[in-house]
Amino acid sequence: MVNWEGMELEEIGLVASPSRETDADCVLKEGKEKEVATETLVLINNRNGNKILAVCRGGLGSNDSLRISYYNPGVAYARSGRGPSTAKEFYSFKLVVIGDVTDGEIKQNKIIIAPASPVYKFKEGSNPLKLFGKTINNIGYYATGSSSWRVPVLVEYIPHHIGVFGVTGSGKSFLCRYELIPLLRNAGYDVLIFDWKGSDYAPYYEDSVINMGDIMLDESSVYMFLLERLDRFGSGHVAEKLRDYLEGIILEGNWRGETPEETKMKLETLMKKEIEDENVDKSKKLTSWGERYAKVAQKYFNRLRPEDLRLIMGTMDAEQIINLLRQKKILVIDLSYGAKEQKLAIFLSIARHLKTLMEEKNKLNVAVLIDEAPQYCPWNPRGIEEETTRQIIGLAALGRSYGLSLTLVSQGIAGEIGINAAVRRNLNTLFIGRIHPLDAQEAEKFFASSWVGVDSLLRLPEGQFYLVGKMNPSPVPILISFNIEECEKLRHGKR
Ligand SMILES: Nc1ncnc2c1ncn2[C@@H]1O[C@H](COP(=O)(O)OP(=O)(O)O)[C@@H](O)[C@H]1O
Ligand SMILES: [Mg+2]
Repeated sequence: MVNWEGMELEEIGLVASPSRETDADCVLKEGKEKEVATETLVLINNRNGNKILAVCRGGLGSNDSLRISYYNPGVAYARSGRGPSTAKEFYSFKLVVIGDVTDGEIKQNKIIIAPASPVYKFKEGSNPLKLFGKTINNIGYYATGSSSWRVPVLVEYIPHHIGVFGVTGSGKSFLCRYELIPLLRNAGYDVLIFDWKGSDYAPYYEDSVINMGDIMLDESSVYMFLLERLDRFGSGHVAEKLRDYLEGIILEGNWRGETPEETKMKLETLMKKEIEDENVDKSKKLTSWGERYAKVAQKYFNRLRPEDLRLIMGTMDAEQIINLLRQKKILVIDLSYGAKEQKLAIFLSIARHLKTLMEEKNKLNVAVLIDEAPQYCPWNPRGIEEETTRQIIGLAALGRSYGLSLTLVSQGIAGEIGINAAVRRNLNTLFIGRIHPLDAQEAEKFFASSWVGVDSLLRLPEGQFYLVGKMNPSPVPILISFNIEECEKLRHGKR
């Protein structure tokens, strides 16, 4: 046991040969293979003069008398059910260098690690993450350490945007709720959350939720919505004419009543009036066509339930929503109920407003969290998705200068299950949880030369994520986790 910088260290092995400045192999002392696991943080007391923080990955067990590439006495023993000698057995880990920590902060290591340098692990009470430098903000804890080993993050890169990836059930929404949103708040951002299904966030921020029905939709969304509810008035010439009339009424803009019932009545009355105005003969009497229009319109309006109209009666515009966000600090837009086009229309109206604010050179300090991001910016956007994708790219570009941060949450990274490549390029910090096999190739790119294999990414348990990119003070990805019970306790304690 040794002490360094007030930390208790325990020797676990020696650096093997050959070694480099970015990684080395470590032969474990006998018995330590039971204590040291993949992702364990270690300190290398480099005989060439500096102290190096590293992480254990790519473990190996070896016993020469059990090599299976050819027949030998060891294999013969095993075959006959007897145990061969363990005298030649040893274990090793690849040490992936995080940095030179000699001066109490992380720097790139430039000195070759000397073979036979001793390697130490940190005792539970000694937090190696203090060596990451003086950062106030942190997220989760180091996955193989104790829950007090909070992981520091560089909040100045929040407006360089964040991606959270992992298959369904890997813990993305929980990570956002328990760790990411509190981090964004601590860093001074007001957090606007688009909750696609209304189940991941809305129930947890009860008094800070706006429903779709509170938000003012633009005319074309209202028209599309009504058409759908009115079964498009059927088909053929009559239906076509009625759709024209309805569009005219919505564009006029004077169709909202105080209550859904009143709105329904107003719509019916306006429709009747439109038909009467357009279909009279010389003696001002309704023509036979007019009568047919009126009859068909009535038939379809009879099917419309007043409560369905609540969704289009909202009066809150994007500016009011942002003002409310300023008061509440966290605001959830509940997008359950309603067609995809409507959900995206709401997103667009808010995105456009934020963009205008930035074009007017306002510093925003707003973080926009978009769960189910492929709904907004899929790999191959179509129709209204093309516009939402374009807006997201626009927000990302302006956001870096004007303090708008995007967090996109998605079950896939690339391809059919992922998000648009042009959007993805704007995400400079990633949380990567258990990935989908379709994403194996894409994920591998983020872990080049860091000795994290696709195999382990495919098997990560729920609630564990690799932190990759700019907000990570370590140049290599590190594994974080978070404790949902402890967070729950803290939260209740505060209330
Ligand atoms: N840190 C964690 N520790 C333990 N269980 C977790 C953790 N994070 C998430 N879970 C579990 O995983 C489940 C799925 O999490 P969720 O965030 O809804 O996944 P996703 O959004 O990726 O589909 C949750 O119901 C929760 O029980
Ligand atoms: Mg989710």
